[in-house]
Amino acid sequence: MTVLEVEHLNVAYRDRPHTPVVETVKDVSFRVDAGEALGIVGESGCGKSQTMLAVLGMLGREGGEVTGRVGFDGQDLTRLSQKQLRAVRGAGIGLVSQDALSALNPAMTIGRQMAEPLIRYDGYDRRTAADRCAELLDLVGIPGPRERLRAHPHELSGGMRQRVLIAMAISREPKVLIADEPTTALDVTIQSQVLRLIDRLRRDLRMALVLITHDLGVVAGVTDRIAVMYAGRVVESAPTTSLFDAPGHPYTRALMSSIPRMDHRVDRLPAIPGFPPAPASPPPGCAFRPRCAVARPACDDSVPLLVGHPSGDPAHFVRCPYPVHDSNGPTVGARS
Ligand SMILES: Nc1ncnc2c1ncn2[C@@H]1O[C@H](COP(=O)(O)OP(=O)(O)OP(=O)(O)O)[C@@H](O)[C@H]1O
Ligand SMILES: [Mg+2]
Repeated sequence: MTVLEVEHLNVAYRDRPHTPVVETVKDVSFRVDAGEALGIVGESGCGKSQTMLAVLGMLGREGGEVTGRVGFDGQDLTRLSQKQLRAVRGAGIGLVSQDALSALNPAMTIGRQMAEPLIRYDGYDRRTAADRCAELLDLVGIPGPRERLRAHPHELSGGMRQRVLIAMAISREPKVLIADEPTTALDVTIQSQVLRLIDRLRRDLRMALVLITHDLGVVAGVTDRIAVMYAGRVVESAPTTSLFDAPGHPYTRALMSSIPRMDHRVDRLPAIPGFPPAPASPPPGCAFRPRCAVARPACDDSVPLLVGHPSGDPAHFVRCPYPVHDSNGPTVGARS
């Protein structure tokens, strides 16, 4: 059963009447089924957070204009008021945001900020809320949870703060957990602990998970399906095994070659030359074209459609008319 279904989502900013429209999210569609984990992957600035903020109605007052449909619990979230959305956030969809330090209130104890939504929305009193918060901290692997409830955010390590955010996001038992780069600020060992924690909670609490990251290696082991984003669009989408077995888009292949491998001696990570285009000045045609080693002149003509990839998996789609079939061709760098 699908719990979250995003259809043709667009986010556009119109600063002044005669300035060009800046689009940060373009025709993005994806769905997540109950208990399923979807990874959304792409470099910095590709529109991952914009997509999730639009889904949750959190783009802010000067935020972009959202079109498309966000189906959740039989309603279209793009049509709800902020008050109605507040009821969905937390209880229906939990969010672990990108930056644990700024997501927590530095002046408030962990216990108070964790208890507040439970008291306000779910009818807990202070004592039962404290019990529930201690239970949650225990669930996310924070030792001595009772004492930690009295701590302020700055008294915790980065990894612990991220665990607190996860505890807060699951405290009201949401159907969907959205984790936006939950491990970026953490060192590698803590990263994998936090990922394992998210994976365990998803299974134990039967949540759907949307895991956003710039690192394909992060989503490899913990997702069922992956959507790769580039310059505001989904450029490839597939079950995780199919994506890794037969990556079709040159961008996906470039991201893959940036994953350090345990069985290779790594002197230098093959970074992808260049940068994604700014949303205000996208190139004509395929947005990856200026960085693509296999581009052809026709790539300038129009934005490619997302079509079935001939990998044998009917759920594998790619936005490139010249998807790669073999596993060795060049994907990035100057064209020959
Ligand atoms: N208020 C805004 N007005 C115009 N453009 C914006 C606004 N907010 C964000 N953007 C642009 O939208 C693009 C996508 O931003 P977004 O935060 O979604 O990237 P991201 O994929 O989450 O990157 P990161 O991995 O760095 O978090 C960026 O180029 C950003 O500059
Ligand atoms: Mg982001």
